[in-house]
Amino acid sequence: MTGPRVSLSHAGFHVNDMDKMIDFYTNVFGLTVTDRGGDRLVFLCGDPKDHHQLIMIGGRDTEPGSKHYAHMAFRADSMDTLREIHAKASNETDATDIRTMTHGNAWSVYFQDPEGNTAEAFFDTPWYVQQPFLEPYDLNQSDEDIFKYTEELLSKHDTTRPVEEWRQELSEKLGAN
Ligand SMILES: [Fe+2]
Repeated sequence: MTGPRVSLSHAGFHVNDMDKMIDFYTNVFGLTVTDRGGDRLVFLCGDPKDHHQLIMIGGRDTEPGSKHYAHMAFRADSMDTLREIHAKASNETDATDIRTMTHGNAWSVYFQDPEGNTAEAFFDTPWYVQQPFLEPYDLNQSDEDIFKYTEELLSKHDTTRPVEEWRQELSEKLGAN
């Protein structure tokens, strides 16, 4: 093995309304507050292997919609979990622009949180396809139909291949083979 081996663990961002943002992320993504430093610093997590995956820090001073922060994404363990997050976001009056898009390598649900940040949940597909790739899909279909629909979409792209193959190559490139 050569070089540092890293995996992304957490993101931090500034917020205006701490209580509202905590409610939103605990309700929609099922995160829990793991620690806090008073009212201005809060750690949240949805996976026991990390102390925190999300840090909210008070005192945001950028306008909602300003082009700086892009988005963060949570990996879901099934399409049903995605459906659950989609349903919960749909029940939140403060969530806007909810959309279901596939990147070929993932099925995603995107929406804007109460402060206009883009949030994403996704479930991995078994394929790699060259990025960027973005097509809508229908989360109301059965898992099987979504799979078939996506496979059909990807069959038109010659960079499509099993993600395990692509991971193996990346692993070798990173010196971890
Ligand atoms: Fe993403």
